[in-house]
Amino acid sequence: MQLFPEQASALAGRVDALYFFLIGISVFFSLLIAGLVVYFAVKYRRRSETEPAPEPATGGIALEIVWSVIPLGIAMVIFGWGASVFFSINRPPDDALEIYVVAKQWMWKLQHMEGQREINELHIPLGRAVRLKMTSEDVIHSFYVPVFRVKQDVLPGRYTQIWFHPTKVGRYHLFCAEYCGTKHSGMIGWVTVMEPPDYQAWLSGGTGEGSLASRGDKLFQDLACVNCHKADGSGRGPSLEDVAGKTVELEGGQKIAVDDEYLRESILSPQSKIVKGYQPIMPTFQGLVTEDQLLQLIEHIKSSGKPAAGKATR
Ligand code: CUA
Repeated sequence: MQLFPEQASALAGRVDALYFFLIGISVFFSLLIAGLVVYFAVKYRRRSETEPAPEPATGGIALEIVWSVIPLGIAMVIFGWGASVFFSINRPPDDALEIYVVAKQWMWKLQHMEGQREINELHIPLGRAVRLKMTSEDVIHSFYVPVFRVKQDVLPGRYTQIWFHPTKVGRYHLFCAEYCGTKHSGMIGWVTVMEPPDYQAWLSGGTGEGSLASRGDKLFQDLACVNCHKADGSGRGPSLEDVAGKTVELEGGQKIAVDDEYLRESILSPQSKIVKGYQPIMPTFQGLVTEDQLLQLIEHIKSSGKPAAGKATR
C-alpha cells in the first residue's frame, strides 16, 4: 500500500514540499511542547506536603519578544510559500491545451476541441500544459486527480478551471471529491497521459462529428441564431464575428469583456446585459440547450471571424 500517490505533474513536487514542510513544523512543535510539559512536570513537582508554593514569575520582555517573533517569521514563510504555489496552480500558461468538462450525476463528460468526446476517461499528451474548463449540469462536483495534486470544484451555472502539466506517461485515477448524491463514490475515471505521437494517433481516430466549433456552427444554424446575429451586423442582434475576447458597451454605458461567462449568460439569460443599440428581444435558451451544446456554441462564437486556427478543420 502506498502512503502517497506518485508525482505526475510539474506542480506535484512543489505541493508535496510545502506539505512536508507543514508536517515537519507541526511534528517539531508538538514534540517540543509535549516533551517540555512532561519534563517540567517531573522537574518542578512538589516534593513534600510542607513545601511552600513557589513565587509566580513575572516580566521577561526579551522572552516574550522571542516567542512572538519566531512564530510570526514561520507563519510568514508558510504564507509566502503557500501563496506562490497557489498562484502557480491558478495561472494556466497561455499555450495550454483546452479541454471542456461537464459533470453530472454521476459521470464526467469530456470534450476535446478536435471533437473527440469521452466519458470518465481523459486522454492527454505528455509534456504539454492542459487546461480544463468545467461546469456541472446539476449539483456541485469536484474534479480531483491525486497524482497531479490538483482539485477544483465544478459548479452548476458557471465555469471553473484547473490546469496541470503532466510529466509521466501512465494511467491515473480521477475522482469526484465532493459528495454529490447516491453514486458519488462511483463517479470516478481515468486520466491517460500518452506520448505525443500516440496522442496524435488517438486524436485522429476521431468521431467524425467534427470539431467543437463546427458542431457549434451547426447548432447556430439549427437554433436560428444566425437569423438575427448576421455576420455583417445588419441583423436584429449584434454580429458575433470576432467579438469574443473584446469589450462591448452595454445599454447604460457599462463596458463588459466578452468572455465565456458573458457568452453563456447571453444565451441563457439574454435580457440581463443588452449590447448598446439593440432591443431586448432575444428569447432565452434556458432548457433548450445542454451544457455540452452551450460549450459548442461558445466555441463557435470564439472561432468565428478568426483565421483558420480556431476554425473547424474537419
Ligand atoms: Cu460528483 Cu461527487
